[in-house]
Amino acid sequence: MTTLSATDTLSGSTGEVPETELTARPVEGSLAGRTVLVTGSDGFIGSHVVERLVADGARVKAFCLYNSNGSTGWLDESDAFRQAVRDGQAEVVLGDIRDPEHVMASTEGVDVVLHLAALIAIPFSYVAPRSYVETNVIGTLNVLEAVRRQGTPRMVNTSTSEVYGTPEAVPITEAHPLRGQSPYSATKISADKMCESYALSFETPVTTLRPFNTFGPRQSTRAVIPTVLSQLLAGASQLKLGDLSPKRDFTFVTDTADGFVRAALADVAPGTTIQLGTGRTVSVGEVVELCRKVTGSDAEIVTESARIRPEGSEVQILLSDPSRANEVLGWAPTVSLEEGLSATAEWLRPRVDAETAGRYHR
Ligand SMILES: NC(=O)c1ccc[n+]([C@@H]2O[C@H](COP(=O)([O-])OP(=O)(O)OC[C@H]3O[C@@H](n4cnc5c(N)ncnc54)[C@H](O)[C@@H]3O)[C@@H](O)[C@H]2O)c1
Repeated sequence: MTTLSATDTLSGSTGEVPETELTARPVEGSLAGRTVLVTGSDGFIGSHVVERLVADGARVKAFCLYNSNGSTGWLDESDAFRQAVRDGQAEVVLGDIRDPEHVMASTEGVDVVLHLAALIAIPFSYVAPRSYVETNVIGTLNVLEAVRRQGTPRMVNTSTSEVYGTPEAVPITEAHPLRGQSPYSATKISADKMCESYALSFETPVTTLRPFNTFGPRQSTRAVIPTVLSQLLAGASQLKLGDLSPKRDFTFVTDTADGFVRAALADVAPGTTIQLGTGRTVSVGEVVELCRKVTGSDAEIVTESARIRPEGSEVQILLSDPSRANEVLGWAPTVSLEEGLSATAEWLRPRVDAETAGRYHR
């Protein structure tokens, strides 16, 4: 284990961290025929989880944020989901997790709740923190209360590696202390703690799944990989970025979706927390290099001050110890960073808008 102070620059630290080779076990059990409510179905990870559930034969209630034009976000472009709706295997529930009565009604008769809905952008949490409390904390409370009152057999709460802040030591295990380095992180910590409290107080069967950074098709350009790839695919000669030094542990989105299915099936003690990460970390600068390779671009990097986060808020390194996910869920990543970047670039290529690719998206 490498020990770090919160202010370490981390240069060279990854060399000291042993790389872990893990193999995924076949999934034990099946969600076929079971009814699964997925909050955040309209989002990046949620839409992939929904597609995986449909492929596995689950009956899916896709809870999407209500809006006036009836959009179901990324599910609008999912042929597999649309087919499942036509076949009666899936349905859309438009709503808002801040509304307790509607969440309660939507949970009736459900076997599993996968709770992914959240406000997730760190920079926007600096300017609108109250909305994060209302969605991420109160929203999770509403889901927990519905699961408790309805006697739902299993709930999976979605945490994030951001709850650790800049780690005291890497690789990070589930036992690492939590530190709210941004309002986003603080609300996710609060949501995790509400889940812990329901597990301890009421034996609510909630598992907290804690993904490290996830990437892949449909991710918003708020995140670093789509930001870089979009600019490169738009043919930019200058790549506008923030700090290149932070290191992250990136998981491809289909592997993250696999973790949700395994967590839904795992009969673990109420309140168990399991993190999902690859056990490898790369700097933003290294990711940029790989993106240049995948797209064949030689754009030069330009640092934009608006994209630099406040010093005490930026988390310098995230690196998971994936042992528990492997032992308890039989989970291991199957898509390498480079394979995942190529797949993401292929998805982005026809969608890139040269005019907006370089715009900073909070
Ligand atoms: N993307 C990552 O790298 C990452 C890493 C760790 C954890 N997570 C967690 O995974 C989950 C999904 O994140 P994502 O990357 O897919 O983000 P996303 O923004 O694409 O998806 C979140 C979804 O939640 C929905 N939502 C927001 N407020 C809502 C409300 N009040 N009621 C109902 N729905 C609402 C949004 O419409 C959106 O589709 C989040 O809980 C996030 O904290 C993401």
